[in-house]
Amino acid sequence: MNPLLAKLQPYPFERLRQLFAGVTPSADFSPISLGIGEPKHPTPAFIKEALAASLGALAVYPATAGDLKLRQSFTGWLQRRYALALDPATQVLPVNGSREALFALAQTVVDATKAPVVLSPNPFYQIYEGAALLSGAEPYYVPSVPARNFAVDWDSVPAEVWARTQLVFVCSPGNPTGAVMPLDEWQKLFALSDRHGFVIAADECYSEIYFRDEAPLGGLEAAARLGRHDFRNLIALTSLSKRSNVPGLRSGFVAGDAAIIKSFLLYRTYHGSAMSGTVAAASIAAWNDEAHVVENRAQYRAKFAAVTPLLEPVLDVRLPDASFYLWAGVPASWQGDDQGFARALYAQYNVTVLPGSYLARDVAGTNPGRGRIRMALVADTPECTEAARRIVNFIQNRVHS
Ligand SMILES: Cc1ncc(COP(=O)(O)O)c(C=O)c1O
Repeated sequence: MNPLLAKLQPYPFERLRQLFAGVTPSADFSPISLGIGEPKHPTPAFIKEALAASLGALAVYPATAGDLKLRQSFTGWLQRRYALALDPATQVLPVNGSREALFALAQTVVDATKAPVVLSPNPFYQIYEGAALLSGAEPYYVPSVPARNFAVDWDSVPAEVWARTQLVFVCSPGNPTGAVMPLDEWQKLFALSDRHGFVIAADECYSEIYFRDEAPLGGLEAAARLGRHDFRNLIALTSLSKRSNVPGLRSGFVAGDAAIIKSFLLYRTYHGSAMSGTVAAASIAAWNDEAHVVENRAQYRAKFAAVTPLLEPVLDVRLPDASFYLWAGVPASWQGDDQGFARALYAQYNVTVLPGSYLARDVAGTNPGRGRIRMALVADTPECTEAARRIVNFIQNRVHS
């Protein structure tokens, strides 16, 4: 057996199951889960129709690189969304969702013979860690700073760690913080990449769910604004799961540095991760339409506008830049016990939230997720507002008891 498998950590939802084991939630309340970040808005009918109309493609092996029409749907979207002109032949590749691509990219770019380090934000999406470990690298967790809108503290990374860094995961908009990385942070990271030669994997799967007027800055967009038109050492990962409410389609794409894309295509050819032609047809339809994305965003905006003000008086929480999460600090009376908060909330009000410490790692005795909870506002607005009201009651009743 591959000994690196033993290094993998239990997934946060496994830990949540253990936390709730033996707890019987109050029968006075129907269950509401704000735990899993799975989109729940309906899949647009035209995407299902495109899928159903392409079943003939099941009879052929798809090409790992995807056909030109698929790759043009990616570059067309990049042009409309970011005003970028990428070459469909060399600078994009289809992937089966960003999760597998994040993992596979690490296996492609990391050279395990050189004591590699892979940098991840802390808190973070757990695939970064597993990808790093199975590539033979040592993960290094860089804390996000609540006082700076949860910006990742790149300045805290020691020089000897930068010297060994081969890959940096950036999650913007962030899960769980919802923070978007600004241009000056990109500039800093690009300069470090130029000095140390590491690859930047920009995970952007929440880029279309945002709450400010301006759409989130993309990594490729940042590079182009800084004159880096070859996107050297940069790969952006984009997904339809959240944008188009198709988490089960498993469809996304990567874009950026043509040299990395070439090696990634080679890796993927052996790994056997071509996108089915049926999925590709539905994906082309989805990338070529923006109306459903605007409508989806409007639903999230209405939901967050209803829920956030209910929670603001009782939790340390505010509207994020983007994503579908609220990343909230528990009240001071809980003394940072996010697990106890989640368990008691579940027991008394049948609402599931994820303890923040499950999404982060202890570094030098500090877990930057401790004392926080993540709430995924994926259910419909009435259900989310009902959950928020229960959370308010839960907190107020405890304070007064
Ligand atoms: C930060 C982040 N990246 C990537 C993914 C994977 O999404 P998908 O594989 O559906 O594109 C998720 C899913 O929840 C996520 O939260």
